[in-house]
This record gives sequence, C-alpha cells and structure tokens, in this order.
Amino acid sequence: MLSKRLKTIAEMVKTPSVIDVGCDHGLLDIYLAKEYHKTCLACDISEKALQQAEKNVVKYQVQDLVKTKCTDGLTGIVVKKEDTVVLSGMGTHTIIKILEGRSDIERCIVSSHKDVPLLRRWMTKAGYQITEETYVIEKNILYVILAFERNEVQYEEIDYEVGPFLKKDPTYVSMLLEKEEALLEKVTDLKRKEEIQKKIEQFKKQEQ
Ligand SMILES: C[S@@+](CC[C@H](N)C(=O)[O-])C[C@H]1O[C@@H](n2cnc3c(N)ncnc32)[C@H](O)[C@@H]1O
Repeated sequence: MLSKRLKTIAEMVKTPSVIDVGCDHGLLDIYLAKEYHKTCLACDISEKALQQAEKNVVKYQVQDLVKTKCTDGLTGIVVKKEDTVVLSGMGTHTIIKILEGRSDIERCIVSSHKDVPLLRRWMTKAGYQITEETYVIEKNILYVILAFERNEVQYEEIDYEVGPFLKKDPTYVSMLLEKEEALLEKVTDLKRKEEIQKKIEQFKKQEQ
C-alpha cells in the first residue's frame, strides 16, 4: 500500500503530467497513473531503482502512462508548462542542487524532512511562491510537503521558519515548539542556545 506521504503528494498534483525526480521504485507514478490517469516520467539516478520501477510499471500495466529515465536530477529533461516536477525523499541540499539554474519549471511539489526553512528561503529567492503546505508524520519523522508555483513574493521571517500556511496550524506550531524546547535542553553552545531561544519566542508568539 502506498504511504500516506506519497498519497498526500499525489493529491496535490494539479497538472496532467508529472516528472518524478528520485522516483525509486516508481510507486508514486504508478499510483498517479492508476488513480488519476496522469502521465509520468519517473526518473532516478540509480539504475537498480529504475529497473525495479520498470518491473512495477509492467506489473501494474501502466506502460502507456509511465515512462522511465535514468538521470541525475533533471539532466537531459525538458520541463513543459503542464508538468509538475516532484522531488521527494531527498535532502534539501540535493533538491536545491537539482533545481538550481532551471528556469523552465512552472510548478513543483517538494518534500523534505530536514532544513525546510532553508528550502522555503531558497525557493522564494529562485522566484517561487508557496501555494500549498501540509505535513505528514511517518515512523516518527515529520515530513513537510510544499507546492510551489512561479511568482515573485516576499515573506516574513515566520513564513520561512514555520510556513505561510502551516503557521496557522496550532498543532504544527506546538510540535515545532516542543522540538526546539527539547533541543534547547541538549545544546551547550551559547550562540546556538540564543538562536534556539529566539525561535522558541517566535513560535510562542505565533501560538497566541
Ligand atoms: C528515499 S528515495 C525517495 C523515493 C520517493 N521519491 C519517495 O519520496 O518515497 C530517494 C531516491 O532519490 C534518488 N536520488 C538521489 N539523488 C538523486 C539525483 N541527484 N537524481 C535523481 N535521483 C536521485 C535515489 O536513488 C533514491 O531512489
């Protein structure tokens, strides 16, 4: 069965076609094809992962809708206006490296469990607006899922740290707060302590 995280990503796709970067075994693509009749280009840097993806595509009989490509990021791929680029299950730095210098992407869905404020900052600077935001907890890991569209916007600090949509979700804010408070207990470096304290105050203000 497809994970809640991948199902959530699938629900956020609004275009008829998808480029799934780092598709692994192609599970998202097969689901998008079967449930939503989307056209998918399932890409991965790993030949081994793609071989399994190709087997799955045949197993679920979605060869007409799902094609595969072995490549690093979006190398050799022309992104069309009607494509949504999905990047999930990779670290923020890998995601940034893949998106760097690509001016042909109109919309993308990105999911990372680390350095999400950095991701928001970088995407905004690269000319994207956050159009949707949600989160999923799987095996005790918090995954934030963000949809972006090309648009110049300016956000406030809290929008980068918590998210322009997620800042309105009290459960999410209190989860972040708990995480920072736990971190504060462990950290000994004074400068780092100050930074965490600042975040805690910011989150508490948001909670009120
Ligand atoms: C943890 S899996 C995530 C699979 C799926 N996207 C998900 O969210 O469950 C990460 C996948 O990204 C692939 N990957 C890592 N770096 C990549 C890159 N630069 N270009 C394409 N694929 C990459 C890996 O080979 C692996 O299959």
